[in-house]
Amino acid sequence: MSSHLFQPIRLRGLTLDNRIMVSPMCQYSAVDGCATDWHLMHLGQFAVSGAGLVMVEMTDVEPRGRITPYCLGLYSDANEQALKRVVDFCKRHGHARIGIQLAHAGRKASTLPPWEGRRLLRPEEGGWEPVAPSAVASGAGAAVPRALTLDEIGQIRDAFVSATQRAARIGFDAIELHCAHGYLLHQFLSPLSNHRTDRYGGSLENRMRFPLEVFAAMRAAWPEDKPLGVRVSATDWAEGGWSLPDTLAFARALKALGCDWIDVSSGGLVKNQVIETYPGYQVPFAEAVRQATGLTTIAIGMITEPRHAEAIVAHGQADMVALARGMLYDPRWAWHAAAELGATVYYPNQYLRCRPWVRHDTFAEREAARAEEFHLPAVFKQPE
Ligand SMILES: Cc1cc2nc3c(=O)[nH]c(=O)nc-3n(C[C@H](O)[C@H](O)[C@H](O)COP(=O)(O)O)c2cc1C
Repeated sequence: MSSHLFQPIRLRGLTLDNRIMVSPMCQYSAVDGCATDWHLMHLGQFAVSGAGLVMVEMTDVEPRGRITPYCLGLYSDANEQALKRVVDFCKRHGHARIGIQLAHAGRKASTLPPWEGRRLLRPEEGGWEPVAPSAVASGAGAAVPRALTLDEIGQIRDAFVSATQRAARIGFDAIELHCAHGYLLHQFLSPLSNHRTDRYGGSLENRMRFPLEVFAAMRAAWPEDKPLGVRVSATDWAEGGWSLPDTLAFARALKALGCDWIDVSSGGLVKNQVIETYPGYQVPFAEAVRQATGLTTIAIGMITEPRHAEAIVAHGQADMVALARGMLYDPRWAWHAAAELGATVYYPNQYLRCRPWVRHDTFAEREAARAEEFHLPAVFKQPE
């Protein structure tokens, strides 16, 4: 029986080879928002990995929307040029389709990278003032952001549109709008971070307004045949916070605006979240979104085993799976999964000879394969 995970999938005008996505992963390795050689290596390896879609890390639409001074951005011509070099490289050498996750960190901005402790950056260290829907910190020790004015909210929406236009010029195949993990758009959605009393706060409808406006404006600026999806946090894992029923309402509203997928994660908004994690712990949220809306869904979170990924797709819990840490650990994950599931997967020509079905155990098998590969006569002897 053929693998479900390795069936192609169509997202608008884009067809992916299979249902495996390399999840977006911040690298904190940019200079003034510009991609570097690190990105060439990091994304280049995934472009030849056999995964259907590689999603470039959270890329911020304005400088103050960066988590750290080393985050990727798409707000300047220099950013666009640097990222185009990486995307051209990936497309020249690889086969995966390349998407970009566009974002704004909001109140989670202006910190040091994880390996330097994530602490807040002071102004004298190059830090800046984080902005958010309301002047509410995510917990003890976190920055108290400045509440955005209505004018600034409009400017940030325009920054998302401008980054979308840059992504189109670069030649990205897809965009994922980041509405998860406690960043700006999630901060608008959740009642724990949004205490506004204007049309952007209060009721669920009002809290969803800004993310939906951003999505609609991006959709209008993005080529009609290219897909645009959204990553959500299905729940805040905290009392009084954003929850699964809210996510379903949000997903329905996004569907009406032409959303092509929902990538279902969770948490990240408040420090007092309580999460019990285990393999596939977020999959039921993806399944609920899929059942309620019929939208293409992507499951993410502690999925590392090929047979687990296969079962998620085969049982209709999600249409695709994304892997983050598992891909860092094993960038050849898709090759290994294909071998385990008996599926075929892309290999670059230069690496064809390492395919497991080419690496035969016996001399005779190896020589037969060699003869086939190099068009030699298939006559040889087993050595004494
Ligand atoms: C190094 C690293 C960087 C990450 N950066 C992002 C990011 O840019 N955007 C995002 O939505 N999630 C980000 N995440 C979360 C992952 O995409 C993923 O949702 C999470 O790690 C759970 O999946 P996993 O169990 O396969 O690692 C990051 C995770 C890691 C490990």
